[in-house]
Amino acid sequence: GQARLVVDLEHPGVPVDRRLFGAFVEHVGRAIHTGVHEPGHPSADARGFRTDVVELVRELGVSAVRYPGGNFVSGYRWEDGVGPRESRPTRLDLAWHSTETNEVGLHEFAEWLEEVGSDLVLALNLGTRGTLEALDLLEYANVARGTTRTDERARNGRPHPFGVRTWCLGNEMDGPWQLGHRSADDYGKLAAQTARAMRLLDPDLELVLCGSSSRDMPTFGEWERTVLTHAYDEVDLISCHAYYEERDGDLASFLASAVDMDAFIDSVVATIDHVRAVRGSEHRVDISFDEWNVWYLSRFQAEERITSLDHWPRAPRLLEDVYTVADAVVVGSLLISLLRHADRVRSASLAQLVNAIAPVMTEPGGPAWRQTTFFPFALTSRHARGSSLPVRIECDEQETARHGVVPLVDAAATRDEDGTVSLFVVNRSQSGPVELDVVVPGGRAFARGDARTLHDDDHHAVNTLADPTRVGVRDNSTLRVDGDAITLTLPPVSWSVVVLE
Ligand code: AHR
Repeated sequence: GQARLVVDLEHPGVPVDRRLFGAFVEHVGRAIHTGVHEPGHPSADARGFRTDVVELVRELGVSAVRYPGGNFVSGYRWEDGVGPRESRPTRLDLAWHSTETNEVGLHEFAEWLEEVGSDLVLALNLGTRGTLEALDLLEYANVARGTTRTDERARNGRPHPFGVRTWCLGNEMDGPWQLGHRSADDYGKLAAQTARAMRLLDPDLELVLCGSSSRDMPTFGEWERTVLTHAYDEVDLISCHAYYEERDGDLASFLASAVDMDAFIDSVVATIDHVRAVRGSEHRVDISFDEWNVWYLSRFQAEERITSLDHWPRAPRLLEDVYTVADAVVVGSLLISLLRHADRVRSASLAQLVNAIAPVMTEPGGPAWRQTTFFPFALTSRHARGSSLPVRIECDEQETARHGVVPLVDAAATRDEDGTVSLFVVNRSQSGPVELDVVVPGGRAFARGDARTLHDDDHHAVNTLADPTRVGVRDNSTLRVDGDAITLTLPPVSWSVVVLE
């Protein structure tokens, strides 16, 4: 097939917030224990952090990490994770039916983030706890000195505050599975009250209201309208969560998952702006897409798990999806959707980061490696700098069962401050390559370019412990750059990045 990608270089573009390249670490499965933290591992530093994982997370280019949940946070007492290790309690984690030993808590996770060079985003427990506990944690984290809690923090090894700016007001409070799940009215009131109280303590916060845990929730849309009606002027962002998977062998629909993400974002933007209009508010609320990924949730739900009263495993192998080439192409296309909406999506978190539905995998006592999904994330984070530019795509379309008629090619473009233009392109066709012509009206001539492509003849190829480098990105030698004439071949089911200078 043939396709034309028209990139509007004359447009000023929309700034790409670095925070689009965030991730998420929950106390679930082996994300923390034997993922981030494994004392005794050959690569562990003096604090027990696996330096092989630190290096991979640095390479991934993660701007901020949301922590410690997820569903976990709705049963969590943050105090359990601070203070001398030997006196930290061992607890039951009801969300994942596991044992939590609390070896890693706020201090350790913040230290780990200093190693990887990412900011901390804290999620509060507004499920089984409330405003007072949120204030306690905020005081402990952000107040410099002079109170019992700040003295305690100093005794725990941290005289200077953590200075956490972004806080999530609970997690997926619309989900019946959530501990402390509430109605939209009840949650909206609690979130508004907690936000107001937090700002009395620290006016310089960025607060994230819980939106829907998926666009398929029966309460979607009405949930957003109600919680925003209660909390509009108190918050800066509202969250979206979305997970996609290939269902019943329908690869065509799966590859078009970004069509759903686009519609999700557009609906939430419309709802935000409706509430703003009704209130006559000048205040601006944007989106934090703070959980997104491919997740084989239906497989997880179908698994037989022992959930008896006497079986609470520590760091079990949970949610350890092994990602295929097709999964990586979808991750790349979801990043394209986020870039396309950079005007309203100000931050996002890939869910998750290590071992649980993660781009980085580890073996206890053994190596760490990159899943297929690592590559589009790392390369988009590295090259999507400056501003996001409008693009137009002319290409063939195809009918899909879940998303209707979709274009076979999707793309986003960014322009760096030094003039470098980066293109991110997917070919969703399963039947053959697409010859892409890139058109840049205005006649800017590029001197050179580089293209890299993720593709494999086996769309279901994966990286595993046994074969950790089976799938990767390769130079795409079909790229031709001759002034403003740019062409490239996109293999079927592929994701590519093109950097033009
Ligand atoms: O990321 C896994 C889970 O997905 C999170 O705990 C929850 O917030 C969401 O349902």
